[in-house]
Amino acid sequence: MTQCCINPSILSADFVNLEAELQRISTADAVHVDVMDNHFVPNLTIGLPVVQRIQAVSPVPLDAHLMIADADRWAPGFADAGLSSVTFHAEASIAPVKLARELRSRGAKAGMALRPATPVDPYLDMLSELDMLLIMTVEPGFGGQAFLDLTLPKIRRARAAIDGSGINVALQVDGGITEETIVRAAEAGANVFVAGSAVYGAEDPEAAIKRLRAEGSRTLRPASAE
Ligand code: DX5
Ligand code: ZN
Repeated sequence: MTQCCINPSILSADFVNLEAELQRISTADAVHVDVMDNHFVPNLTIGLPVVQRIQAVSPVPLDAHLMIADADRWAPGFADAGLSSVTFHAEASIAPVKLARELRSRGAKAGMALRPATPVDPYLDMLSELDMLLIMTVEPGFGGQAFLDLTLPKIRRARAAIDGSGINVALQVDGGITEETIVRAAEAGANVFVAGSAVYGAEDPEAAIKRLRAEGSRTLRPASAE
C-alpha cells in the first residue's frame, strides 16, 4: 500500500443536509458513520433507518462505527443494509468472534474497535476474523477532541502483530486526527484515518482530504500482506 485511506466522519457534518454534505467528500475513500446510542457512549446520533438512507445516496462506501451497547444483537442489521464495513466495539460484544463471522457472512467487512484504555493484546488471536481493527485515539462519544498520544504504543503493537501474522487487516485510527497527528499515527502503523472536524471544519473538505492523504501517505509503511 502506498496511499492511506481517509474516511471523513459525518459527526462533524450538518445533519440537516446530509446528502449535500456527502457530496462534499466524494474523493474520500469511505464515509465514517458514527452510530451512538446514549448507553455505550454519552451521546446520541443516528440509527439504522438514517444509515440506510445515507447508504442509498452516498457517493462513497460506508464505514459504520457502532458505539452501541449489545453489539451482538444490533450490529448484524447494519451488515444487512449493505454497508461496506461494520465496526463494533469489543467492550460491547459478548462474543466478538461470533459477531465478526456474522458480519462477514452478511457481506460486510468486519471491524472491531477498542477504547483508548482497552488493551489490544487479548484480541490478537482473532485478527484473522477481522478486516479492520480500529484503535480509538480519543474516548468515543464526541468529535473535536485532542488526539491521545498514549495510544501510540498500542498502534505500534497492533501493527507489529498484523505484519507478523501476514493477514491483511486494516489498522484504523479515529479521534483527533489532524495534518499533524496523522503523521504520528501513520508512523506508528495506522493506515486508515478517520477525520471529522479536520475535514468538515475546513473551508474546502476535498482539499483537506487531499492534504491529510498526502501527510498520512508520506510516512506510511508498506503493508506486509500486499
Ligand atoms: C468519536 C467518533 C469520531 C469523531 C472524530 O467518538 O468516533 O469518529 O467523529 O471526530 P474528530 O476527527 O473531530 O476527532
Ligand atoms: Zn468514529
